[in-house]
Amino acid sequence: MKITVFNGSPRKDNGNTHKIVKAFLNGCKKAGAKSENIFLVSKEINHCMGCFNCWIKIPGNCIQKDDMKELITKFLNSDIIVFATPLYVDSVSSILKKFLERLLPVVDPHFERVNGETRHVMRFEKYPDFVFISNCAYPEYSQFQVLEHFSKRLARELNTNILLEIFRTQGELLKEKSVFLKPILKKFFKSVENAGYQLIKEGKVDQNIIDSWKKPLIPIDLYLRKANEYWDKELKKIE
Ligand SMILES: Cc1cc2nc3c(=O)[nH]c(=O)nc-3n(C[C@H](O)[C@H](O)[C@H](O)COP(=O)(O)O)c2cc1C
Repeated sequence: MKITVFNGSPRKDNGNTHKIVKAFLNGCKKAGAKSENIFLVSKEINHCMGCFNCWIKIPGNCIQKDDMKELITKFLNSDIIVFATPLYVDSVSSILKKFLERLLPVVDPHFERVNGETRHVMRFEKYPDFVFISNCAYPEYSQFQVLEHFSKRLARELNTNILLEIFRTQGELLKEKSVFLKPILKKFFKSVENAGYQLIKEGKVDQNIIDSWKKPLIPIDLYLRKANEYWDKELKKIE
């Protein structure tokens, strides 16, 4: 079982997204999976030119010479892809979006209608299944509405499955070291690790674990107060 993570956070291994990815991969590895973690911001990825040469001139290949050739090979040769991203403006970061747009060569240009909706014909027999991992600063789970929808649309477009979504609100707490937060974060990361383990071993994750991620880590009013205190303190420094 080969898992490849495409992480769209500019903070790379200092990011909150990566903290969740790390716990998830730990669980997957304990269950026997192999993984590769890729920080997309460190790769040379130009934006899609919309020229369609990948469909009509050199079918299946982009004319641009950058890191996407290697990344598409990794994408296609994986059993599971983890799309990992901070929530930016309600959606995936532009770093991840640019990568997703450049996946155009993996589908065929022709249209087909499936269950009353059009999509491209698949160029390959099977695409890897997806796991989505994200975190955001706001505390309500509803902040992920766009991403929940987006992940479904992407999986439909590539005729594949979403195996799991790990969406963490109050994500900026994940790097906190306070004594108060320690047991709360430990419990969260352990649940993510267990989810990785279960997914590889059993092909699915306990609904109780998934439901636990939908609750805030700390009460929302306390979180807002602490967040605003933090910004006040930071702003004081430039006075
Ligand atoms: C440009 C930008 C846009 C953001 N948009 C949102 C947003 O729409 N909703 C939200 O809750 N947090 C938003 N955030 C906060 C990030 O999701 C949050 O800081 C997250 O923990 C960053 O993850 P990372 O450390 O992996 O990069 C935004 C942050 C930035 C820099």
